[in-house]
Amino acid sequence: MKRHRASTGFPRTRMRRNRRHEWSRRLISENHLSVDDLIWPVFVIDGENKTEDVASMPDVQRYSVDLLVDAVGKAKDLGIPAVALFPFTDPSLKDAEGSESVNPENLVCRAVRAIKAAHGDDIGVMCDVALDPYTDHGHDGLLQDGYIVNDASVKVLAQQALNQAQAGCDVIAPSDMMDGRVREIRNVLDKADLDRVQIMAYSAKYASAFYGPFRDAVGSAPNLAGGDKKTYQMDSANTDEALREVALDISEGADMVMVKPGMPYLDVVRRVKDEFQVPTYAYQVSGEYAMLTGAADRGWLDGERVMMESLMGFKRAGADGVLSYYAVAAAKRLKDG
Ligand code: PBG
Repeated sequence: MKRHRASTGFPRTRMRRNRRHEWSRRLISENHLSVDDLIWPVFVIDGENKTEDVASMPDVQRYSVDLLVDAVGKAKDLGIPAVALFPFTDPSLKDAEGSESVNPENLVCRAVRAIKAAHGDDIGVMCDVALDPYTDHGHDGLLQDGYIVNDASVKVLAQQALNQAQAGCDVIAPSDMMDGRVREIRNVLDKADLDRVQIMAYSAKYASAFYGPFRDAVGSAPNLAGGDKKTYQMDSANTDEALREVALDISEGADMVMVKPGMPYLDVVRRVKDEFQVPTYAYQVSGEYAMLTGAADRGWLDGERVMMESLMGFKRAGADGVLSYYAVAAAKRLKDG
């Protein structure tokens, strides 16, 4: 047998060999981003034939329900599996209890019905469960003596979820971070014969400064007036706590779990996926989007490339999918190659 020719020197192992050609790079790639991984968060406004720009999120718009139906149709045609709806609520409809959240004729319910009527089950519709679009104090739950009370909030949130599910929402996504909300929502849905409605729990949701542009987009920033959500959302220093949150949500009936924000918390995504092996999602939030598109608009970053690279980061960290304001642009890019 011919002996291996002695190495003429170092290095024997050349990692770059596999990277030399594009075909070879494709062959050795470990992770893949596909349109099936994308969930598109969209903002809804009242009115007809109307769009509004969101100042802090370049290329992101709020759509009136009629135009939203068209936009969702385009997402569907691109193969995006689901959209997540976020209403901009008229300030005159906000109160301390977030009563508009349980109104069957509220904006988000009208949007769900219109999308389902036009597109049926060809695209999934997710709704956020939290009171912040509806409260005059901008918090996700009920405020009593300066504290967001848990159990009373959970009761209202479950009714909000029921309201959305009755409108035809496919996936209920509680983002409020109250304790026990997943169990209460599951109970209320099941009692109403809505056992087929899925729950994607925002399980590990951090009290983050990266939500700033979103609060502008849904109009909750002035209500919150500089306040924070630290008594219910998580501290950015913690990851063991995230695993406890996820474990609880799974035990309470969550079908899917989420980590949020995304890019600064990819370690949490990885730990969650490794520990639980359940469908795990990450939310590339408004501030992450603003950061990347803002820099790209100034010519400081290549916008297309950082979009794709940031989305791949989620896949590498173990996410099964990503909620991203880039969803439509990324789907187009994946289609066109
Ligand atoms: C509402 C909610 C928030 C986001 C999603 N659902 C904001 C918040 O908790 O204050 C943020 C999404 C984003 O920044 O893109 N509870």
